[in-house]
Amino acid sequence: MILVTGGTGYIGSHVVVELLQAGQDVVVLDNLSNSCPSVIHRIEKITRRGVTFFEGDVCDRGLLTDIFGRHGVSAVIHCAGLKAVSESVRKPLEYYENNVYGTLSLCAAMQAANVKKLVFSSSATVYGEEASTPYVETMPRGVATSPYGTSKGMVEKVLEDLSASDAQWSISILRYFNPVGAHPSGLIGEAPQGIPNNLMPYIAQVAAGSLSELSIYGSDYPTEDGTCVRDYLHVVDLAQGHSKALTHLQHGVHHYNLGTGQGVSVLEMVESFMAATGVKVPYRFAPRREGDLPAFWASANKACQDLGWRAEMSLTDMMIDTWRWQQNATQDTATS
Ligand code: WQD
Repeated sequence: MILVTGGTGYIGSHVVVELLQAGQDVVVLDNLSNSCPSVIHRIEKITRRGVTFFEGDVCDRGLLTDIFGRHGVSAVIHCAGLKAVSESVRKPLEYYENNVYGTLSLCAAMQAANVKKLVFSSSATVYGEEASTPYVETMPRGVATSPYGTSKGMVEKVLEDLSASDAQWSISILRYFNPVGAHPSGLIGEAPQGIPNNLMPYIAQVAAGSLSELSIYGSDYPTEDGTCVRDYLHVVDLAQGHSKALTHLQHGVHHYNLGTGQGVSVLEMVESFMAATGVKVPYRFAPRREGDLPAFWASANKACQDLGWRAEMSLTDMMIDTWRWQQNATQDTATS
């Protein structure tokens, strides 16, 4: 039995689908702070398999101990956490409590239950603003630009120290680049509350008419078209990376970039969306957004060599799946 924390969230729900489809049994723990319980039924609809769900928090040691004891958990994929960069600047204590203390609580409960296999959701942001691109796993962590990023780097260090203290631990740290898209079924995807901060859901909401136009932050960066460059990957590819990381867990702690290895600019994203869907996305150029780096992408070689994983889905897939999900979400709101 695999425990997925944050299993009703954007990334976690796709991970649960991949695990179930790979034949694993899954128990989900989520506090529903940024997701809703109907996701479980949607996962069951996609996979035609059952999932055991606990509403609760990773900071609740008693609940964790109970889950480990009752469900024979052999490994944990830890996706639970807060992830909004700008919110983390306003609410650092919440970010450190959820992301750092939450992981300490989880690891302590795992140790007590003798469950020492862990896959952890980290972020490319841990490379910091000084790193040269492409980011390679052998580079040291840098100074993160937000409490969110710092919390991910702190947890990485905790896991490294834990592994150094006890050779029985097998830990994979997955550093996500920019996950986008939704499940091709249209049943699960990202459901940001309020106005989205991230590019892809913003584009989708402009296309749907819920927002009037996209502001492209910065047109004078030292990139080919002057807009920022990122490594966008399809969330289903990302989820498969977790499944591969789980089956290839080895003793010690191992860091993997999960990205395509290709940089794509903001303007290319907008154009690709319009070409794939035929829907116009009005945009205007706006000043740079504070804290944005001009360009970064992954070296994706290590995950390929060690895990046999590489991102397979195209930019067009990312756009079409985002749009299908957005249209379903708009319909749901219109009929509910
Ligand atoms: C991408 C590009 C913006 C919105 C963040 C976190 C990272 C990870 C993913 C994880 C940038 C531009 C955006 C808009 C725009 N978080 N943009 N107009 O900042 O690369 O990464 O999200 O959990 O840790 O740092 O992603 O999608 O916000 O922005 O022009 O309305 O799109 O300036 O260049 P980012 P993003």
